[in-house]
Amino acid sequence: MTSTRKNLVFAGLLVILNAVSAQMLTWDHYLFTSSPPVYPSPPTAGIGWETAFAQADAFVANLTLEEKVTLLTGVAQGPCIGNIAPIPRVDFYGLCLQDGPASIRQATYASVFPAGLTAAASWDKGLIYSRGLYLGAEFKAKGAHVALGPVAGPLGRSGYGGRGWEGFSPDPYLTGIAMEQTISAMQRSGVQATAKHFIGNEQETQRNPTISQNNDTIEAVSSNIDDRTMHELYMWPFANAVRAGVASVMCSYNRLNSSYSCQNSKALNGLLKEELGFQGYVMSDWGAVHAGVASVKAGLDMNMPGPIGFLVTEPSFWGSNLTASVNNGSLSEMRIDDMARRIMSPYFHLRQDMDYPPIDMESGNLNILGVQPYFDTFKFGRANVDVRQTHAQLIRELAAAGTVLLKNTNNALPLRAPKTIGVFGNDAGNPTNGLYTLSSGGDYEYGTLAIGGGSGTGRLSYVLTPLDALKIRAARDGSLVQFLLNNTLISDPAIAFQSIAPSPPEVCLVLLKTWAAEGADRTTLLADWNSTAVVESVASYCNNTVVITHTGGPNTMPWAKHPNVTAIVAAHFPGQESGNSLVDILYGDVNPSGKLPYTIAHEERDYAFADITNSTELQETEDPNAWQSDFKEGLLIDYRHFDYYNRSVLYEFGFGLSYTTFSMSNLIICNVYNNRNITARPPRTAIAPGGNPTLYDVLYRATAVVTNTGSLAGATVPQLYLSLPQVPGEAPTPLKVLRGFEKVSLQPGQSTMVSFDLMRRDISYWDASQQEWIIAPGAIGAQAGFSSRDIRLVTSFLPL
Ligand SMILES: *[C@@H]1O[C@H](CO)[C@@H](O)[C@H](O)[C@H]1NC(C)=O
Ligand SMILES: *[C@@H]1O[C@H](CO)[C@@H](O)[C@H](O)[C@H]1NC(C)=O
Ligand SMILES: *[C@@H]1O[C@H](CO)[C@@H](O)[C@H](O)[C@H]1NC(C)=O
Ligand SMILES: *[C@@H]1O[C@H](CO)[C@@H](O)[C@H](O)[C@H]1NC(C)=O
Ligand SMILES: *[C@@H]1O[C@H](CO)[C@@H](O)[C@H](O)[C@H]1NC(C)=O
Ligand SMILES: *[C@@H]1O[C@H](CO)[C@@H](O)[C@H](O)[C@H]1NC(C)=O
Ligand SMILES: *[C@@H]1O[C@H](CO)[C@@H](O)[C@H](O)[C@H]1NC(C)=O
Ligand SMILES: *[C@@H]1O[C@H](CO)[C@@H](O)[C@H](O)[C@H]1NC(C)=O
Ligand SMILES: *[C@@H]1O[C@H](CO)[C@@H](O)[C@H](O)[C@H]1NC(C)=O
Ligand SMILES: *[C@@H]1O[C@H](CO)[C@@H](O)[C@H](O)[C@H]1NC(C)=O
Ligand SMILES: *[C@@H]1O[C@H](CO)[C@@H](O)[C@H](O)[C@H]1NC(C)=O
Ligand SMILES: *[C@@H]1O[C@H](CO)[C@@H](O)[C@H](O)[C@H]1NC(C)=O
Repeated sequence: MTSTRKNLVFAGLLVILNAVSAQMLTWDHYLFTSSPPVYPSPPTAGIGWETAFAQADAFVANLTLEEKVTLLTGVAQGPCIGNIAPIPRVDFYGLCLQDGPASIRQATYASVFPAGLTAAASWDKGLIYSRGLYLGAEFKAKGAHVALGPVAGPLGRSGYGGRGWEGFSPDPYLTGIAMEQTISAMQRSGVQATAKHFIGNEQETQRNPTISQNNDTIEAVSSNIDDRTMHELYMWPFANAVRAGVASVMCSYNRLNSSYSCQNSKALNGLLKEELGFQGYVMSDWGAVHAGVASVKAGLDMNMPGPIGFLVTEPSFWGSNLTASVNNGSLSEMRIDDMARRIMSPYFHLRQDMDYPPIDMESGNLNILGVQPYFDTFKFGRANVDVRQTHAQLIRELAAAGTVLLKNTNNALPLRAPKTIGVFGNDAGNPTNGLYTLSSGGDYEYGTLAIGGGSGTGRLSYVLTPLDALKIRAARDGSLVQFLLNNTLISDPAIAFQSIAPSPPEVCLVLLKTWAAEGADRTTLLADWNSTAVVESVASYCNNTVVITHTGGPNTMPWAKHPNVTAIVAAHFPGQESGNSLVDILYGDVNPSGKLPYTIAHEERDYAFADITNSTELQETEDPNAWQSDFKEGLLIDYRHFDYYNRSVLYEFGFGLSYTTFSMSNLIICNVYNNRNITARPPRTAIAPGGNPTLYDVLYRATAVVTNTGSLAGATVPQLYLSLPQVPGEAPTPLKVLRGFEKVSLQPGQSTMVSFDLMRRDISYWDASQQEWIIAPGAIGAQAGFSSRDIRLVTSFLPL
């Protein structure tokens, strides 16, 4: 079955040059101006949690219609970010929903974990699982039933996206595995996970409707995505999430083909419930509901926060409107029952009815303290419970594992007891404006950026800054640590360094940050606060300049090739142990093993293939339907774009240096499908969570041997990419896609065998006309290496 074809990449390229123009010509905007209706909403059968479903069924059978509607419609004036009011008559004490993906956001005495992006950069399944486990434990100990994370949308179509860092990676396979690990772990801790935002929420700009100058409602941006791209890119990680048994999926703010995501029957009834077999409940993003009965029929199960907009005083599209609609026959009570069962099944499955911790009393103070009758029916416990336990150890380890060494010349790193260290940049020291970076980046000039802003942020109980951690570590060697934290001063080399002596320091560390938050996209990929001038100024003065970035996505690095910039470290958003995890890498106490979960291109315009939809004209439009985001690039985002168009990049997807070296040998691919013949179409079976279960049958196993050829212990990430055949008449298939990775830790000279299971979905493409995953005829190329462009071994196999 196995043969070698080293010329595979080039063979693929020939097909493409014809396909490129075809792809552009076939985009017909009209096809994306409506969504196909998919009704009725498929009822759940409780597949995967049958016992809990039976409990939910009995529970719901005992409720009045008004009580059922209470389960579905949030009440804004409760102790948590989202609140389902208690029904004490049946011993149900409500549901407490809390932000967010990296921390129980508002809570006191809670941990701020590394961002999803940082977790992805570790490529370490075990650490990602531990992060989920501890996150879940903190939500539960604070009495939150539902955690509003993890994030697979935005996936990261545009590097400018304000929320890219909340999720994992623009690669759906890497994100899918991170979703699965995180969700399994969080739910094992007993808290319900929420996979969000479904779907196409790839920009913040105009994510919600606005009011124009003439008081017209200008609708939210419409993400127009073809069916194949939907399946192979944006929906892929949500399939993993559903397969992992996620309790809830949050629908998004944006429109899809001009229809709002939270009332889009094709997306919710069709893709999510019918095709992926989702058994839990669809929850709206806050204020993303724009209709009553129509959203219910389209598949939405829970309305958050409940009232229209965010104000308690506002009415709801749901609530008594749903009761009235059932009573006058315009909505079936069976659908209401299904919604209630979907909400209660995960509650019973995770045994949240049994001794669940009460809500931390402080949570109420952090929200709007209630005057509503139901407020006191929530179960409150002590205030300010410390839920952090020993999670700081994992936070430090994971942030170091997610720190990517991009450049290292002249043996700049690891540091070897330098006599003098200069620390430069406003990202090095303590935040002068507090530890809760919720709103705009402009508010946070001074202080290290450990996590981004918006609902994905966290209230830091402390942050160990890079400067403090360096001082502590440097004291062991008696090194002098001098610093300048004022970027305006540093930008002017004529005056900046007058206070430094001896001068220049042996090593100059420059700390840069890049603000990113919900609600606004980035307007540049450069790091903030005059970063280019800061680096150039320091590098003009110091021939051993090490640049460290704290970032929420890709940065352009115009200074990367500067001869005095000897090392570059992308530390992402590390969470509360920022300084410790950085110092572990800088001093080599931890050998760097992080790999980029995205591409760093040379220039901003290299990313223009998937720009944020925006312009002055759009900002001033009076056309309600003007905001249209055509995903014309299809499957070709991030490395798939740069590979397909043969574009050189600064640092490619999957890249990251180590202080040791590794080799790889013996790539072998075996058919492990029990001697059964592989068919192009998946065998027909009953749908289970995740979709057709046979899509996850392991058909092939790839193995390779990895050896540490250097003199230091270290970890690396062997990566397997597949080149699937081009399909005549279809949009281009990416030249290669990630389909396996494993983090391995090796002593000097040690070897290990890694194996990558290839499932049916991994070697199929989505055929939109057949509405099926199909294995295309032709050989599949397999490439194994240490990044998407550091391919060490090539082979191919022929499945059909
Ligand atoms: C959007 O439109 C495309 C093209 O007509 C279609 O293939 C796709 O299924 C639609 N998606 C949704 C969610 O309506
Ligand atoms: C229905 O509710 C009553 C309390 O009103 C309770 O005694 C009974 O056990 C409940 N039945 C079910 C099936 O939950
Ligand atoms: C828009 O509405 C506001 C108040 O709702 C009103 O003050 C303003 O005059 C209106 N503007 C136009 C152009 O109608
Ligand atoms: C029902 O929904 C409408 C908005 O369509 C709202 O104006 C009305 O107040 C709602 N009714 C209740 C009782 O909330
Ligand atoms: C049923 O009630 C809903 C909510 O009050 C209302 O919007 C709808 O128009 C009513 N339909 C009929 C047929 O009376
Ligand atoms: C940015 O750096 C330039 C020097 O290149 C300097 O002229 C300017 O004042 C700096 N701006 C700020 C806001 O620090
Ligand atoms: C930062 O440096 C500039 C230029 O030297 C100076 O004008 C400014 O006052 C400094 N800011 C602070 C907060 O010291
Ligand atoms: C590199 O640093 C040295 C000081 O060590 C300086 O003289 C030189 O001009 C710098 N090179 C560049 C290109 O800035
Ligand atoms: C860097 O500058 C120092 C003096 O600051 C000098 O001793 C050293 O030789 C320089 N290194 C290089 C590679 O130029
Ligand atoms: C969107 O366009 C407006 C008007 O040109 C501009 O002010 C704003 O910065 C843009 N937003 C982004 C995220 O680029
Ligand atoms: C890809 O681009 C490089 C230069 O950037 C060029 O040397 C090479 O021939 C190109 N390959 C193909 C297949 O176009
Ligand atoms: C597999 O296909 C071959 C050739 O079509 C056939 O001879 C053989 O019986 C099939 N094996 C099984 C297990 O179906």
